Amino acid sequence: MFTAMTLRARLIIILFFTVTVPILVSGYFMSDQAENALLKEKQAKLFGYARLLDVHLEGTYNDILVNKGIFNIDKDTKIKVLNAALRDYTDQVANTHPGLGIGYYSKELDAILTYGPSEEFSDYIGQSIFHGHEGYTVMKTGEEMVQIGKLVRGPIMNCMIPIIRNEEVIGYIWSNELLSDIEAQISNMEDKVYNTILIGLFSSLLLSYFLTSNIVRDVVTIKKGLSNLHKNMSYRFPPLRGEIGEIARAINDMSEALNTMKLHSESIASSTPNGLLTLNNEGVVTIVNLSAERLLNVTAKEIIDNHYRHVFQPWTGIASILDTAFNGELYQNKEIAIDIHRRTIYLLFTTTALLNTRGEQMGILIILRDLTETKKLEEQVRRADRLAITGELAAGIAHEVRNPLTAITGYLQLLAVDFANDDPRNEFTRIISQEIDRLNNLIDQLLYFSRPLPPQFMQISLHKVIEETLLLINSPAVLKEVTIDTDFSPDLPPVKIDAIQFKQVLINILLNAIQSIGNSGTITLRTSYHSQTAQIRLQIEDSGCGIPPEHIPRLFDPFFTTKEKGTGLGLAVADKILEVHHGFIDVESIVGKGTCFSIYLPIRSGGKIREE
Ligand SMILES: Nc1ncnc2c1ncn2[C@@H]1O[C@H](COP(=O)(O)OP(=O)(O)OP(=O)(O)O)[C@@H](O)[C@H]1O
Ligand SMILES: [Mg+2]
Repeated sequence: MFTAMTLRARLIIILFFTVTVPILVSGYFMSDQAENALLKEKQAKLFGYARLLDVHLEGTYNDILVNKGIFNIDKDTKIKVLNAALRDYTDQVANTHPGLGIGYYSKELDAILTYGPSEEFSDYIGQSIFHGHEGYTVMKTGEEMVQIGKLVRGPIMNCMIPIIRNEEVIGYIWSNELLSDIEAQISNMEDKVYNTILIGLFSSLLLSYFLTSNIVRDVVTIKKGLSNLHKNMSYRFPPLRGEIGEIARAINDMSEALNTMKLHSESIASSTPNGLLTLNNEGVVTIVNLSAERLLNVTAKEIIDNHYRHVFQPWTGIASILDTAFNGELYQNKEIAIDIHRRTIYLLFTTTALLNTRGEQMGILIILRDLTETKKLEEQVRRADRLAITGELAAGIAHEVRNPLTAITGYLQLLAVDFANDDPRNEFTRIISQEIDRLNNLIDQLLYFSRPLPPQFMQISLHKVIEETLLLINSPAVLKEVTIDTDFSPDLPPVKIDAIQFKQVLINILLNAIQSIGNSGTITLRTSYHSQTAQIRLQIEDSGCGIPPEHIPRLFDPFFTTKEKGTGLGLAVADKILEVHHGFIDVESIVGKGTCFSIYLPIRSGGKIREE
C-alpha cells in the first residue's frame, strides 16, 4: 500500500508539473496580457475622444474670439466666450461614454476652457492645472501623454494630446476615465480568467485522479499477484487487459517455467537414494528430501525453518560436523554412526558449500548416504566366513569326540550295574551321563555347521509351528515366572519352511530370552505380513537384561557366550538355519530394558529377502 501511495503521489506530482503548473503560468500571463490590452484599448479610446475635440476646434482659440469680434477683453471674459463656444460639443462627446471626462485647456490663458459633462465639472472652468501636472509637459513638448494618478477630478487615467496650430502648441485636450471604473472592468475580466483557470485546474486534478487511479490499480494488481506468487508458486494472474495484461502473461509464463524447473529439481532430489538437506547461512534447514526424512526418521515439517543445532541435538556427531562446516572445513564421505529408535544407522556424510550465481556462499548442502545395509552385508559375510572355518574344525572334532563318548557311555552303564540303589556313586554316574548328553548335544550343533541336514520344506502355518514350540519350552518358562504373550497377525499367509529346523531356531531364541529375564518378566511373540516386500516378520521381544552394544556384532559368532555354562552356539545355529531358509535375523536391544529379535522370512519359495 505504501508503494502504491508513493506511486500515486509521484504521478500526481508529475501531472501537477506537466498540467497544473502550465495552466497557472499561462493563466497568470493571460490575465496580465488581458489587463495590458484593456489598458491599451482604453487609452486608444480616450485619445480618440480627445482627437474628436481637436478636429472640432479646427483653428485656434483666438480664431473663435476674432470670429466673434471680441478683442482686448479680460481673461475671464475670454474664458467665458470660449467655454460658451466649445461647451456643447465637449458635453456631446462626454455623454457618448459614461464616466468619461473631457475638455480643452488654453496655454495662453493657462486655464481650463471646457470640462464635460458640464453639469458635473463646470466648477473647474477657468482653473489652472496644478504645478507638476503633465499637461504642462504636453504643452511644452508637443507630445501625447498618458498620466495615471490623482489629478483634478481624483484618481484617473488621463490621456492628453497637444493642440498644435501653425507648429505652435496653443493648449491641450484631455480625455480621462476614473481608475475605479477601469479597475472594475479589469477585475471583471480577471474574474473570468481566474474562473477559467480554476475550471482547468479542477478538471486537470479530476483527470489526474482518474488517470493515476487506473495506473495505481493496475500496479496494485501486479503487486498483489506477485505477493501471491511469492506465497504460492502455482498462483496465476487472471486475464488482464492492455499492457498490464501482457506483463501478467509474461509473469505467468515465467512462473510456469520456474515451476517446471522447480519440479524438475525436486523430482531429481526426491528420487535420489541419497539424503539431501540444505542449510542457509544462518544454519537454518531450508530443504529436506524424502530420503533424508526416511534416513533420519524425521518429517520435513518438523525440521524445516529450524536451526541445525536444534534439529541434530540428539546426534552431537552431526551437529559438530556442521559446526566445522560453518567454520569453512567441509567433509567428504565422513563415516558416522547414529542411534535412531534403538537402531544404529551408519551414514556417509558429505558437506558442500552452496554457491549462488555470483559465487557467494548461500549455505551448506548436506549429502547423506545410508551405509547400514552395506555394513550388515559385510557383517554377514564376515560371519559366514567364520562359520565356514568353525564348521570344518567342528566336523573333525565331532568325529573324534563322538566315538570315545559312545565308549564312555557304554562303560558307564556297565559300571552302574554293580552299584546298589542307595550307593552314593549313583549320583556321580548321573552327573557323568548328564555331561555326556551335553557333549552330544554340542556335537550335534557343531555337526550342523559342517553337514547341515537338507531341509524338508513344507507349506505350513507359522503360528502352528510357534504354538507347538511354546508347548516344548513351557516348563522352564513357568519355572521362572515368565509370561509368554502372542500377538498374531490374522492375515499371515502360510510359509514354506522346515518345521523341525525352524522350531530349533525358536527354541534357541526363546531359551536365551528366558535366561535373560531375572526373576519374572514377559516375552512377546509378534507376527506381521509385509505385502510390499512379500515377507513375514516374527518378533521375539523380551523384558530381560538386554545386550551391551559392543556384543551385538559378535552375537551370531559360534562360541560367543557370556554364560558360564553356555556353548555360544544357539544363535549361530539359528542364523545358519535361517540362511538355508533364505531368511534373516536382526536384533535390537537396550541394556536393562530388553531385547527384540526379528526374523524375516520370504513367503515366495526360493526368494531371498536380501535380494528383493
Ligand atoms: N535375549 C537375550 N538377552 C540377553 N542376552 C542374550 C539374549 N540372547 C542372546 N544373548 C547373548 O548372546 C550370547 C550368545 O547366545 P547363544 O544362544 O548363541 O549362546 P548361549 O546362550 O550363551 O549358549 P547356548 O545357547 O549354547 O546355551 C549369550 O551368551 C548372551 O550373552
Ligand atoms: Mg543360547
